[in-house]
Amino acid sequence: MMEHSRINRKLVLFKFLHGFILLCMSTCLESTALRSLTLLGNESDRLALLDFKKKITADPFDVMSSWNHSIHFCNWVGVSCHRSTKRVLMLNLISKKLVGSISPSVGNLTYLTGINLGDNNFHGEIPPEMGRLQSLQYLNLSHNSFREKIPTNLSQCAQLRLLNLQYNHIKGSIPNQLSSLLNLEHLWLYGNNLTGTIPPWIGNFSLLSSLYLGENNFQGSIANELGHITGLVEFSVELNNLSSIVPSSIYNISSIHIFSVAENQLHGELPPNLGIMLPNLVKFFCGMNKFTGNIPVSLSNASRLQRFDLAANKLTGSVPGEDIGSLKSLVWLNFESNRLGNGKNGDLNFFSFLANCTSLETLSIFQNHFGGGIPGSLANLSTQLKSLTLGENLIHGSLPNSIGNLINLNRLGMERNYLDHSVPNEIGKLQKLVVLFLGGNKFSGPIPSSLGNITSLTKLYMEDNGFSGSIPPSLGNCRDLLILSLSNNNLTGTIPKELTKLSSLSISLEIADNYLTGSLPSEVGDLVHLTMLNISNNKLSGEIPSTLSRCVSLEFLYLEANKFEGKIPQSFKDLRALEELYISDNNLSGQIPEFIGKLEALKYLNLSYNNFEGELPKEGIFSNASSVSVVGNHRLCGGIPQLHLHPCPKNSQHSSRGLLSSKVVIPIACALAFIIVVSCFFIACSMLKKSRDRHATTRSYKDWKSSVSYSELVKSTNGFSVDNLIGSGSFGSVYKGVIPSDGTIVVVKVLNLQQEGASKSFIDECKALRSVRHRNLLKIITACSSIDNQGKDFKSLVFEFMENGSLDSWLYPRCEEESPNKRLSFMQRLNIAIDVASALDYLHHHCETSIVHCDLKPNNVLLDKDLVAHVGDFGLARLLFETSNDSSFSQTMSSQLKGSIGYIPPGMNNEFLFSVPINLLLN
Ligand SMILES: *[C@@H]1O[C@H](CO)[C@@H](O)[C@H](O)[C@H]1NC(C)=O
Ligand SMILES: *[C@@H]1O[C@H](CO)[C@@H](O)[C@H](O)[C@H]1NC(C)=O
Ligand SMILES: *[C@@H]1O[C@H](CO)[C@@H](O)[C@H](O)[C@H]1NC(C)=O
Ligand SMILES: *[C@@H]1O[C@H](CO)[C@@H](O)[C@H](O)[C@H]1NC(C)=O
Ligand SMILES: *[C@@H]1O[C@H](CO)[C@@H](O)[C@H](O)[C@H]1NC(C)=O
Ligand SMILES: *[C@@H]1O[C@H](CO)[C@@H](O)[C@H](O)[C@H]1NC(C)=O
Ligand SMILES: *[C@@H]1O[C@H](CO)[C@@H](O)[C@H](O)[C@H]1NC(C)=O
Repeated sequence: MMEHSRINRKLVLFKFLHGFILLCMSTCLESTALRSLTLLGNESDRLALLDFKKKITADPFDVMSSWNHSIHFCNWVGVSCHRSTKRVLMLNLISKKLVGSISPSVGNLTYLTGINLGDNNFHGEIPPEMGRLQSLQYLNLSHNSFREKIPTNLSQCAQLRLLNLQYNHIKGSIPNQLSSLLNLEHLWLYGNNLTGTIPPWIGNFSLLSSLYLGENNFQGSIANELGHITGLVEFSVELNNLSSIVPSSIYNISSIHIFSVAENQLHGELPPNLGIMLPNLVKFFCGMNKFTGNIPVSLSNASRLQRFDLAANKLTGSVPGEDIGSLKSLVWLNFESNRLGNGKNGDLNFFSFLANCTSLETLSIFQNHFGGGIPGSLANLSTQLKSLTLGENLIHGSLPNSIGNLINLNRLGMERNYLDHSVPNEIGKLQKLVVLFLGGNKFSGPIPSSLGNITSLTKLYMEDNGFSGSIPPSLGNCRDLLILSLSNNNLTGTIPKELTKLSSLSISLEIADNYLTGSLPSEVGDLVHLTMLNISNNKLSGEIPSTLSRCVSLEFLYLEANKFEGKIPQSFKDLRALEELYISDNNLSGQIPEFIGKLEALKYLNLSYNNFEGELPKEGIFSNASSVSVVGNHRLCGGIPQLHLHPCPKNSQHSSRGLLSSKVVIPIACALAFIIVVSCFFIACSMLKKSRDRHATTRSYKDWKSSVSYSELVKSTNGFSVDNLIGSGSFGSVYKGVIPSDGTIVVVKVLNLQQEGASKSFIDECKALRSVRHRNLLKIITACSSIDNQGKDFKSLVFEFMENGSLDSWLYPRCEEESPNKRLSFMQRLNIAIDVASALDYLHHHCETSIVHCDLKPNNVLLDKDLVAHVGDFGLARLLFETSNDSSFSQTMSSQLKGSIGYIPPGMNNEFLFSVPINLLLN
């Protein structure tokens, strides 16, 4: 039995194996047959792909190396084929940093259904041969560098459901031929240079669900026909030059969730029944247009509304509080820069209705005509509120104590109203406050000492009020303070030492136009990062402390109209960044030190009305009469003739006694009399002038330095125009910008924030970056964190512009550059080395937290117009990892940094900072 069954089993096994082998053979034969059938088509796909590869000129990740003969093309990276026919269905090479053009041969990939080449650096034209792809459903060429027109042939891709050409530099108009793409569900052309009008035939795309045409140069009107797209969910045409009314048919598309027409020239009124017509609204943006009329009264019916932004229009009337109050999901409510309110009592009563908007985070009524007092119902606003801006209205009365309830506020703006009485001590409960604007009111009483409890404060503006008493020493606890502005109040007492020890102060300390007495504490030397110090128009006395010279970042130093005496400290020669020095109207004496003429950055110097004596130097700043003022120093002599000082005696040792004779005595006496008369006149003038100076104290120091809005950045970069684009990549885009008010050239880096956490941590990052200041470090001028016209987070960093690019480009000029002048002399090299060394010394020894650069190389050393070196990309990683306690922040930052370090070849790194754009700038 045992034996028999064993033989039986062997037999079964044998039969099974036999069958299996036969089966294998037949399938092999079958597939060969199939293969030979499709071989021809297969081969043309392979040739087309190889041709595609040929046009790629740079491939930093080396993805294309897998496109080789040893493996079948269906296994090449980014290629997907049909399982049996082996014809190419998808080509997906998103975010591979590929450079090159797209070969017309893609048109030979007959069965292609999807092309995704987004986020690379393809340029040239979009091949018209793509029109041969009859099966194509998805075409994504977004975030590349295409500059040519949209090929009309695309109209033949009748199956197209997604056409995404966003963020290129595509010009021309949308070709009319595309009206045949009746299957389109998503048409995304955002962020190009498209011109002409928005074609009315888009209204025939009945399947369209999202339409993104923003950030182009479309003109004319929004066609009525667009209202026929009954299923449209996302409608975005912002940042164009559209100048019509919004046709009522658009408000008839009840499916719309996102509606954005911001930053155009649109006019007309918003329909009162907006909320009933568009009951599914989630986001509504129509800021920066010319809309008139009232805020719609039917918003309660759009119960899902989260963001509602009407900023910068010409809207009038009152706020329909009851309506808005019922919007439980409301997060963002922005009415700023309109003509809302009646300037009367009760204007702000709508606050009481907002109590039910428990998710509200941002509320702005800045720059309107709201009058009356702040109602007590302020206290009932959502404790989620992070930003409350009521500035530039006609608001009277006092700031209620209940402001202390809004414990999550990080931005509070009350500036330039008519608020009076004292600021309640409860303000100290706003422990998360980062920015506080109270300037330009009628506040009186003391500066609340509880402000010292708000340790997160970075900017404190209390200027132009009637605050009295002394400056509370507790402000010294605000260890993150970058800006302190207390000018033009009635402050008395001395400058507390605690304040001058606040080494975080890196932008400005302004306490001008008060009645402060005593001396300037020698601790002022601890303000090593400070850019601007303004203590003018006080009653400060004593000598100017020589420690001030330790504030090596000082660019603007205003000490005028005090009672300072003694000499200009010799140590001032270290203030190499100084651009403006005002020490007029004091009792300073002694000679004008030679080194002042050698302060290279100095652009204006005012020494008037002191008791300086001796010979005025002629070099440097002193060689330019329009940059120096020396009047009212009667014992000064010499200088350049344009300054009209009397010549110095040939040799001051030789007294002129021997020359005395009646012939000279009489003229001298006459001259003396004349001088007395003239000086009386000047004294009178200077007294008059002093009061006028109060308004002139900002001088050339720019307010925009302290904060810059999204719209200012839009203006300065011509609407982030392609002409201003100097570099882009997955980190974001970099633009050269010109600040309109003064023509300062800057570099604006707009971060591409894909990750949630990255956006939250941005403020921290800026704070860290900004507290690091040194003459030889690339300076971050400011940062802008805002919401763009799509309602997305917008973050950017603004850096100073470096004319001479990176050191790298000087040391190793590329062969194709003709660079006859690009040679550094030995002295220049030495100076650059010294500059870099001082930057490192600062990073290692003089920062609050020591910073290790980790990535110092010529590429990261940038040269300004005078070839002074500025180290960029200064160990961001280290700085952030060490200073941040917020673990989520460190995580997101570290993952970003890890993603870039190592992977990116030399010359292409600095993923996060700015060297790349600067280099590009030179090309
Ligand atoms: C693509 O097709 C065209 C026309 O059929 C042909 O001339 C061309 O050689 C093909 N390209 C490749 C790379 O096979
Ligand atoms: C071809 O590509 C495969 C997959 O990337 C790779 O392993 C192989 O080394 C490549 N062969 C050649 C000859 O480059
Ligand atoms: C939209 O489609 C209709 C019907 O197919 C056609 O008559 C009309 O011309 C099209 N509109 C535009 C603007 O092309
Ligand atoms: C809005 O839609 C309704 C029904 O679909 C239609 O009767 C009405 O004419 C439309 N109004 C406008 C202004 O298009
Ligand atoms: C609008 O909302 C109000 C109250 O919330 C409700 O009574 C009314 O029926 C709604 N109107 C429409 C057209 O849905
Ligand atoms: C807030 O909501 C509650 C309950 O839904 C309601 O009773 C109350 O009237 C609302 N308050 C305001 C001010 O709208
Ligand atoms: C500051 O905070 C502490 C404790 O948080 C509190 O005791 C103190 O009263 C506060 N100071 C002021 C001036 O409000």
